Amino acid sequence: MSLCIITGTHWGDEGKGKIVDCLSQNADVVVRAQGGSNAGHTVVTGKEKYVFHLIPSGILHPGTLCLLGDGMVINPSSLLEEMKVLTGKNLGDALKRLYISGKAHLVMPYHQLLDGLMESFRKKGKIGTTGQGIGPAYEDKVARWGIRVADLLDEKGFAEKLSVTLQYKNRILENVFRHPPLLFDTIFQEYRGYGETLSHFITDTSKMAYEAVESGQKVIIEGAQGTMLDLDHGTYPFVTSSHPASAGSLLGAGIGPVNGIEIIGICKAYTSRVGEGPFPTECRDETGEFLREKGHEYGATTGRPRRCGWLDGVVLKYAVRVNSITSLVITKLDILGGLPHIQLCTGYQVGNEKTSVVPLSSEAWNQCQPVYDELDGWEEDISEIHSYGELPAATRRYLEFIEDFTSIPVGIISVGPDRNQTIIRKEYF
Ligand code: GDP
Ligand code: IMO
Ligand code: MG
Repeated sequence: MSLCIITGTHWGDEGKGKIVDCLSQNADVVVRAQGGSNAGHTVVTGKEKYVFHLIPSGILHPGTLCLLGDGMVINPSSLLEEMKVLTGKNLGDALKRLYISGKAHLVMPYHQLLDGLMESFRKKGKIGTTGQGIGPAYEDKVARWGIRVADLLDEKGFAEKLSVTLQYKNRILENVFRHPPLLFDTIFQEYRGYGETLSHFITDTSKMAYEAVESGQKVIIEGAQGTMLDLDHGTYPFVTSSHPASAGSLLGAGIGPVNGIEIIGICKAYTSRVGEGPFPTECRDETGEFLREKGHEYGATTGRPRRCGWLDGVVLKYAVRVNSITSLVITKLDILGGLPHIQLCTGYQVGNEKTSVVPLSSEAWNQCQPVYDELDGWEEDISEIHSYGELPAATRRYLEFIEDFTSIPVGIISVGPDRNQTIIRKEYF
């Protein structure tokens, strides 16, 4: 069995794209299982930098098939933009390895519009979404108003579905939000064009993924977002509308819970979050500023500054539990260099109690004060180090502390954005 699930351990942007790219070198198939263009996954190869929103981060490797899985919500316009970037970089051939699930849902113009309108309606309680229409698209999927990618292949059926759904959406737009209605013809023509352009990419990706796993091929499921943005397991309601947790990866890829899956938790050496919601270890001081500037912590999708703070070990342990993580990857360890001391949150103080479990409500989250263990920092630049033994003793102590605290081994350490700035301790494939 050679199936790896890549899962973010915190609130996204842990460096999943970089690690998926590294592992894809030896992979046969990479599947994106959930989310949509809210994701921003960065891959750096020498002088080139790619930011993938929908296309799996394995696309740069000539032998790797890339699937946009059943659980995704796909904005065809964003997808075509991404394809254009690849073609512009002389990687047009890569598109021959790209397949889109017919069961994935389409992000429609009213989804993006409603995302913005609902955020304004919430006023102070806004989620701080990426504005990509993700919530409303998943809302329609669950409420069974959704239009799926396969519907693009049947013009008449698509027109009928769009007609009914749009009447309903326009009632909401006009009567709830006092917004002018959207026009059927405009959307229909736009999406008819997408159907023509994308038809030969559309297939049953679940079958492809299943057959790859069954025949012992090396398969990666690339999670988007992170555990704490999971609709059920995250800091609800400040979450995304899909399931970034590992179980969601299987469902979204269309693979059952087979034995022997390696579940790799991607954990940044410190923690960040974009958008609103609880974040106990956030540093609203010069440490937060240091991490944001040195770590270039600005959103890959929206450009928003990311909130930054010390590594939240309570969340990490929780992520290990809800995802059944078997192995950890620590990314951006280079960013911590130059700090005299490093803090790692090992518990929360809530009133007079110290706890090591995550709370159940967002109100309770807001009462959590981090309790830290302090470790020595290191001065050295570690970004050109290629073996574990060469890391400064204090750096290794930090990693060993994480391993002891979580009881999970660290298999890969990332010390820079480039695919070569990676210390491999475990070969996954
Ligand atoms: P993802 O959403 O989890 O794929 O992460 P993002 O791509 O949104 O954010 C991670 C950012 O950190 C990107 O700009 C990466 O190029 C960069 N990055 C990844 N790993 C490292 C690392 O080990 N060190 C440094 N300095 N940057 C890294
Ligand atoms: P990657 O895959 C970080 C956050 C948004 C917002 C919340 C809901 O790059 O790690 P949405 O648009 O999904 O309805 O927004 O989730 N969010 C992310 N934060 N990285 C991401 O993806 C994110 N995708 C969504 O900022 O707080
Ligand atoms: Mg990202």
